[in-house]
Amino acid sequence: MKVEIFDYAQEVAERVADLLEDQLRVYPYSQLGLATGTTMVPIYKEMVRRVQENRLNLAGVRTFNLDEYVGLDESNPNSFMAFMREHLFEPVGLPREHSYFPWPDFSRCPARYDDLIKECGGIDWQLLGIGHNGHIGFNEPQTPWDSKTHEVILTADTRRANRQAFGGEWLKVPQKAVTMGIGTIMHSRTIVLVALGKGKSAILAQALRGPMTLQVPASVLQRHPHTFVLCDRAAGTLLDR
Ligand code: GLP
Repeated sequence: MKVEIFDYAQEVAERVADLLEDQLRVYPYSQLGLATGTTMVPIYKEMVRRVQENRLNLAGVRTFNLDEYVGLDESNPNSFMAFMREHLFEPVGLPREHSYFPWPDFSRCPARYDDLIKECGGIDWQLLGIGHNGHIGFNEPQTPWDSKTHEVILTADTRRANRQAFGGEWLKVPQKAVTMGIGTIMHSRTIVLVALGKGKSAILAQALRGPMTLQVPASVLQRHPHTFVLCDRAAGTLLDR
């Protein structure tokens, strides 16, 4: 893994956009795996800025989001689809038919999402955040490393961490989601994991410097051949030691 620590979140966002520019310069028709969450807001803002400045061209990409809440369709403002529309798809004019989500399209057989990804050629470039317990996507601790896209019951901690979009009321956060599995994520050719803020420092150090363990899902990235970890100084404080 290549770990890069920057002073400010904006510098992290610029580096992520640089990496995407590099990817699309060589493979303009890439399949991108995309993430949601507060960490991604400055990242998508920077991507939008570059598209508007004609530095980045997303016209040829297809996007596959990591996860979606069960029961929140795209008309629901709290769905991850709505998040993506607001922060990336609409500002850059990405056609609806170029973006895929594991729910509701694959609600009957979530593992078919993996088949679709494979049929499209696999994910070339996967963006990831990290949860406070080390989850990636919604793969909570103890998720098998060869897991495919599947339905999960969210832990109370994860629902609390995601409560902001639900007016701060964690009980309004859906109990279930469908997420790419750890195996799905690990098949991506390039992975870019982003962590911002002091709250992520402890789990980032465990994931990167601790043992590979099911208890910390992101630790599996230690065995991925082409992963970048980009963080700000606050999230990276425990990595220097
Ligand atoms: C959710 C998402 C993850 C994301 C995580 C961290 O659980 N399913 O993909 O990485 O939250 O979110 P945040 O960036 O808001 O800390």
